[in-house]
Amino acid sequence: MPSARDIIESILERPSVFKSKEKLYPEHLPSYLPHREEQLKSLAAYFRNILLEPGSIAQRVLLVGGIGTGKTATARRFGSDFRALARQRGINLEYVHVNCHRDRTLYLVVQEIARQLRIPVPPRGLSAQEMYKIIMKQLENRDMYVIVTLDEFDYFIEVAGNDSVYFLVRTYDEYPNLAKRINFIFITRSLTSLGRLDSATESYIVRNVIHFKPYTSSELYDILKYRSQEAFYEGTVDDKVLEYIADLIGVDNGGSGNARLALEVLMLAGTEADKEGAQRVTIDHVRRAFTHANPNLSIMINDVIRHLPLHELLLLLAIVRLLRQKNEAYVRIGEVEEEYRNICEEYKETPRRHTQIYEYVNDLKRRGVIDARLSGKGYRGKSTLVGVSLGPLEALEKFIQEIIEIKKGEPS
Ligand SMILES: Nc1ncnc2c1ncn2[C@@H]1O[C@H](COP(=O)(O)OP(=O)(O)OP(=O)(O)O)[C@@H](O)[C@H]1O
Ligand SMILES: [Mg+2]
Repeated sequence: MPSARDIIESILERPSVFKSKEKLYPEHLPSYLPHREEQLKSLAAYFRNILLEPGSIAQRVLLVGGIGTGKTATARRFGSDFRALARQRGINLEYVHVNCHRDRTLYLVVQEIARQLRIPVPPRGLSAQEMYKIIMKQLENRDMYVIVTLDEFDYFIEVAGNDSVYFLVRTYDEYPNLAKRINFIFITRSLTSLGRLDSATESYIVRNVIHFKPYTSSELYDILKYRSQEAFYEGTVDDKVLEYIADLIGVDNGGSGNARLALEVLMLAGTEADKEGAQRVTIDHVRRAFTHANPNLSIMINDVIRHLPLHELLLLLAIVRLLRQKNEAYVRIGEVEEEYRNICEEYKETPRRHTQIYEYVNDLKRRGVIDARLSGKGYRGKSTLVGVSLGPLEALEKFIQEIIEIKKGEPS
């Protein structure tokens, strides 16, 4: 019997597709942000006055965009690089990033700003406003400027309320002669959450807005390509695999355009490959990863499959079998029809006609069981391609066969 030590060692020594998996963790800040160049340029343009005429204005910029569109990463990347560039120019600038999901009150936010700037404040007895004054004074003493990002700002608005927001954005109104040292970046998923503010306060926040759109498939492909080169050994992840993930999640293909989800699926697919001791990440590893990342989706689709009519099940079986055989993300509908006819023979069923098959394909697509699209690059001529995003396909094939057996046994 192997000892515990042997078991542990066998895992430690097993080769992995990952060169450095932690590069895919959400807390890792990448050096490059493909397709966020415009947003970085806008940030630089809004904040350049800190370098040109330090203290002249207190800048405020709002970043708005859906989940996983790179708002946090862009703000942190900008903060870190802008700080370095300011220091090269002899300007003492700090970047502070506060997550308002964690720190939702004015007191907690101000305390967190002081902590990150290493400004000592008495642990208790002071109001948020008094603490803020200490920070302002210290910045003055240190001749320091700061850009503060209030990330997930919606939570701050909801909990801390209008007056707290007003307090932060109007700081310098009370002291017109003071050098303006505190600048803000606010981050929110949508502009509607600002509706809770009164219009005067809101107008202060929405003056400079930078939008983050959900990523398209080709944008996600570039992001995945770059991030995979950092995280995986060369040759372990095919472009085909990256294209497939990008296809599933790109907003132009009906996905959410969420880069976090795309990176999570990539990481889980690599983990699946490692679990099997596989040397490369395959399309089916991606399907499994996608299933893990969307547990509700797979429950829902299993339920849909259970209630499909017999010939739609036979067609779905044809699709799954072909995808397995070919080890591809998609197969052509022409091949599927052929396979479907073979399967009908196997189950002693009369195949349905061509037009009916097209209706089945549309129905399966509408129900979210399959993915259907027109062929693009890499295929000759135009034809419909179909794919299945949940996996592993082996388990799915078994499941479909079971349901077919049940339906065949039922009196019709
Ligand atoms: N353009 C990009 N290039 C490389 N990685 C990216 C890019 N955009 C996003 N990412 C990565 O995707 C993940 C999600 O990005 P981020 O956390 O910035 O999204 P977000 O807009 O703040 O989302 P949320 O609203 O959910 O907080 C992070 O791991 C980030 O590093
Ligand atoms: Mg974020």
